[in-house]
Amino acid sequence: MAVVERLPKIKPFNWRDHGSRVLQFQYEVYERNFPGFRVTQAFLADYERQLRQAIRNPFEGLWVLEEEGALVGFVWAAIMATLVDERLGYVKNVYTAPVARGKGYGARLLAVAEDWMRSLGCPRAALDVTAENETAMALYRRSGYRIKRYRMEKELTGVEEDGLL
Ligand SMILES: CC(C)(COP(=O)(O)OP(=O)(O)OC[C@H]1O[C@@H](n2cnc3c(N)ncnc32)[C@H](O)[C@@H]1OP(=O)(O)O)[C@@H](O)C(=O)NCCC(=O)NCCS
Repeated sequence: MAVVERLPKIKPFNWRDHGSRVLQFQYEVYERNFPGFRVTQAFLADYERQLRQAIRNPFEGLWVLEEEGALVGFVWAAIMATLVDERLGYVKNVYTAPVARGKGYGARLLAVAEDWMRSLGCPRAALDVTAENETAMALYRRSGYRIKRYRMEKELTGVEEDGLL
Protein backbone atom coordinates (compact mmCIF):
# COMPACT_ATOMS: atom_id res chain seq x y z
CA MET A 1 0.00 0.00 0.00
CA ALA A 2 1.33 3.44 -0.90
CA VAL A 3 2.34 5.58 2.05
CA VAL A 4 0.47 8.89 1.92
CA GLU A 5 2.54 11.82 3.09
CA ARG A 6 0.36 13.73 5.54
CA LEU A 7 2.70 16.40 6.85
CA PRO A 8 3.05 19.39 4.54
CA LYS A 9 6.39 19.54 2.79
CA ILE A 10 8.12 22.49 1.20
CA LYS A 11 10.27 21.59 -1.82
CA PRO A 12 12.18 23.49 -4.49
CA PHE A 13 10.01 24.18 -7.54
CA ASN A 14 10.72 22.25 -10.71
CA TRP A 15 8.97 22.78 -13.99
CA ARG A 16 8.16 19.13 -14.82
CA ASP A 17 6.40 18.26 -11.57
CA HIS A 18 4.92 21.61 -10.57
CA GLY A 19 4.74 23.88 -13.61
CA SER A 20 1.18 23.37 -14.81
CA ARG A 21 -0.34 23.56 -11.31
CA VAL A 22 1.58 26.73 -10.49
CA LEU A 23 0.34 28.28 -13.74
CA GLN A 24 -3.24 27.47 -12.69
CA PHE A 25 -2.63 29.32 -9.39
CA GLN A 26 -1.98 32.52 -11.35
CA TYR A 27 -5.63 32.97 -12.36
CA GLU A 28 -6.53 33.81 -8.77
CA VAL A 29 -3.33 35.68 -7.98
CA TYR A 30 -3.63 38.06 -10.92
CA GLU A 31 -7.40 38.36 -11.36
CA ARG A 32 -7.87 39.00 -7.65
CA ASN A 33 -5.03 41.47 -7.24
CA PHE A 34 -5.54 43.36 -10.50
CA PRO A 35 -9.32 43.88 -10.77
CA GLY A 36 -10.46 43.80 -14.40
CA PHE A 37 -7.37 41.90 -15.57
CA ARG A 38 -8.00 38.56 -17.27
CA VAL A 39 -5.39 35.82 -17.39
CA THR A 40 -5.03 34.69 -21.01
CA GLN A 41 -3.06 31.94 -22.73
CA ALA A 42 -0.54 34.58 -23.82
CA PHE A 43 -0.10 35.69 -20.21
CA LEU A 44 0.43 32.08 -19.10
CA ALA A 45 2.97 31.50 -21.87
CA ASP A 46 4.88 34.57 -20.72
CA TYR A 47 4.66 33.49 -17.09
CA GLU A 48 5.95 30.04 -18.05
CA ARG A 49 8.95 31.63 -19.78
CA GLN A 50 9.70 33.68 -16.68
CA LEU A 51 9.43 30.64 -14.40
CA ARG A 52 11.74 28.61 -16.61
CA GLN A 53 14.32 31.41 -16.60
CA ALA A 54 14.01 31.88 -12.84
CA ILE A 55 14.82 28.22 -12.12
CA ARG A 56 18.24 28.72 -13.70
CA ASN A 57 18.96 31.99 -11.89
CA PRO A 58 20.72 31.67 -8.50
CA PHE A 59 19.18 35.00 -7.45
CA GLU A 60 15.66 33.65 -7.79
CA GLY A 61 14.16 31.18 -5.31
CA LEU A 62 11.00 29.16 -5.93
CA TRP A 63 9.35 26.60 -3.66
CA VAL A 64 6.11 24.65 -3.54
CA LEU A 65 4.19 23.23 -0.63
CA GLU A 66 2.70 19.75 -0.83
CA GLU A 67 0.03 18.39 1.47
CA GLU A 68 -0.99 14.74 1.22
CA GLY A 69 0.71 14.53 -2.15
CA ALA A 70 -1.17 17.52 -3.60
CA LEU A 71 0.53 20.75 -4.57
CA VAL A 72 -1.24 23.47 -2.55
CA GLY A 73 1.24 26.33 -2.19
CA PHE A 74 3.86 28.32 -4.05
CA VAL A 75 6.29 31.11 -3.27
CA TRP A 76 8.68 32.94 -5.58
CA ALA A 77 11.33 35.33 -4.29
CA ALA A 78 14.28 37.16 -5.82
CA ILE A 79 17.35 39.05 -4.72
CA MET A 80 17.42 42.52 -6.22
CA ALA A 81 19.86 45.40 -6.25
CA THR A 82 18.42 48.90 -6.24
CA LEU A 83 19.99 52.35 -6.05
CA VAL A 84 19.40 52.37 -2.29
CA ASP A 85 19.61 48.66 -1.42
CA GLU A 86 22.63 46.67 -2.41
CA ARG A 87 20.74 43.42 -1.68
CA LEU A 88 17.02 43.42 -1.23
CA GLY A 89 14.94 40.28 -0.87
CA TYR A 90 11.72 40.63 -2.85
CA VAL A 91 8.71 38.31 -2.61
CA LYS A 92 7.26 38.14 -6.12
CA ASN A 93 4.42 35.73 -5.53
CA VAL A 94 2.90 33.77 -2.67
CA TYR A 95 -0.12 31.52 -3.01
CA THR A 96 -1.95 28.82 -1.10
CA ALA A 97 -4.88 26.88 -2.59
CA PRO A 98 -8.29 27.61 -1.03
CA VAL A 99 -8.45 24.15 0.65
CA ALA A 100 -5.14 24.79 2.39
CA ARG A 101 -5.73 28.30 3.71
CA GLY A 102 -5.79 29.34 7.36
CA LYS A 103 -3.32 26.63 8.39
CA GLY A 104 -0.22 28.77 8.56
CA TYR A 105 1.09 27.59 5.16
CA GLY A 106 1.30 31.11 3.73
CA ALA A 107 3.45 32.10 6.70
CA ARG A 108 5.61 28.99 6.29
CA LEU A 109 6.24 29.71 2.62
CA LEU A 110 7.24 33.27 3.44
CA ALA A 111 9.59 32.03 6.16
CA VAL A 112 11.35 29.69 3.71
CA ALA A 113 11.83 32.56 1.26
CA GLU A 114 13.16 34.80 4.05
CA ASP A 115 15.65 32.14 5.25
CA TRP A 116 16.97 31.94 1.70
CA MET A 117 17.25 35.77 1.51
CA ARG A 118 19.18 35.78 4.80
CA SER A 119 21.52 33.08 3.54
CA LEU A 120 22.34 35.37 0.59
CA GLY A 121 23.04 38.35 2.84
CA CYS A 122 19.81 40.36 2.46
CA PRO A 123 19.16 42.57 5.49
CA ARG A 124 15.60 43.33 4.37
CA ALA A 125 12.65 41.75 2.58
CA ALA A 126 9.99 43.63 0.62
CA LEU A 127 6.83 42.89 -1.34
CA ASP A 128 3.92 44.63 -3.05
CA VAL A 129 0.33 43.94 -2.16
CA THR A 130 -2.94 45.23 -3.55
CA ALA A 131 -4.51 47.58 -1.01
CA GLU A 132 -7.85 45.69 -1.10
CA ASN A 133 -6.26 42.28 -0.46
CA GLU A 134 -6.87 42.23 3.29
CA THR A 135 -6.17 38.51 3.67
CA ALA A 136 -2.72 38.90 2.21
CA MET A 137 -2.05 42.09 4.19
CA ALA A 138 -2.99 40.33 7.43
CA LEU A 139 -0.53 37.55 6.61
CA TYR A 140 2.25 40.01 5.84
CA ARG A 141 1.61 42.07 8.96
CA ARG A 142 1.64 38.97 11.11
CA SER A 143 4.88 37.92 9.44
CA GLY A 144 6.47 41.26 10.41
CA TYR A 145 6.05 43.36 7.24
CA ARG A 146 5.22 47.04 7.68
CA ILE A 147 4.09 49.69 5.17
CA LYS A 148 7.10 51.78 4.14
CA ARG A 149 5.89 53.44 0.96
CA TYR A 150 2.58 53.99 -0.80
CA ARG A 151 2.14 53.56 -4.54
CA MET A 152 -0.46 55.97 -5.93
CA GLU A 153 -2.27 55.44 -9.22
CA LYS A 154 -4.64 57.48 -11.32
CA GLU A 155 -6.84 56.50 -14.27
CA LEU A 156 -5.85 58.59 -17.30
CA THR A 157 -8.77 59.66 -19.45
CA GLY A 158 -8.68 60.17 -23.22
CA VAL A 159 -6.41 57.24 -24.07
CA GLU A 160 -7.26 55.34 -27.28
CA GLU A 161 -8.32 51.71 -26.90
CA ASP A 162 -5.04 50.25 -28.26
CA GLY A 163 -3.09 52.98 -26.48
CA LEU A 164 -0.18 52.92 -28.96
CA LEU A 165 1.68 56.05 -29.97
C1 LIG B 1 -2.83 35.41 1.02
C2 LIG B 1 -2.66 33.92 1.18
C3 LIG B 1 -1.30 33.50 0.58
C4 LIG B 1 -2.70 33.54 2.66
O1 LIG B 1 -2.37 32.16 2.76
P1 LIG B 1 -2.75 31.25 4.07
O2 LIG B 1 -2.11 29.93 3.81
O3 LIG B 1 -4.21 31.26 4.31
O4 LIG B 1 -1.98 32.04 5.22
P2 LIG B 1 -1.87 31.62 6.74
O5 LIG B 1 -2.64 30.36 7.00
O6 LIG B 1 -0.42 31.62 7.09
O7 LIG B 1 -2.60 32.82 7.45
C5 LIG B 1 -3.98 33.06 7.20
C6 LIG B 1 -4.82 32.99 8.46
O8 LIG B 1 -4.76 31.72 9.05
C7 LIG B 1 -4.51 31.84 10.46
N1 LIG B 1 -3.64 30.73 10.87
C8 LIG B 1 -2.33 30.67 10.74
N2 LIG B 1 -1.87 29.49 11.23
C9 LIG B 1 -2.93 28.81 11.63
C10 LIG B 1 -3.12 27.54 12.19
N3 LIG B 1 -2.09 26.73 12.43
N4 LIG B 1 -4.39 27.14 12.48
C11 LIG B 1 -5.43 27.95 12.25
N5 LIG B 1 -5.31 29.18 11.70
C12 LIG B 1 -4.08 29.60 11.41
C13 LIG B 1 -3.77 33.12 10.59
O9 LIG B 1 -3.98 33.68 11.88
C14 LIG B 1 -4.37 33.96 9.52
O10 LIG B 1 -5.53 34.62 9.99
P3 LIG B 1 -5.67 36.19 9.85
O11 LIG B 1 -5.63 36.50 8.37
O12 LIG B 1 -6.99 36.46 10.48
O13 LIG B 1 -4.50 36.79 10.57
C15 LIG B 1 -3.81 33.15 0.46
O14 LIG B 1 -5.05 33.62 0.94
C16 LIG B 1 -3.80 33.27 -1.04
O15 LIG B 1 -3.09 32.53 -1.71
N6 LIG B 1 -4.59 34.21 -1.64
C17 LIG B 1 -4.74 34.35 -3.07
C18 LIG B 1 -3.47 34.79 -3.75
C19 LIG B 1 -2.97 36.11 -3.22
O16 LIG B 1 -3.71 37.08 -3.16
N7 LIG B 1 -1.68 36.13 -2.87
C20 LIG B 1 -1.04 37.32 -2.36
C21 LIG B 1 -0.53 38.15 -3.49
S1 LIG B 1 0.12 39.68 -2.90
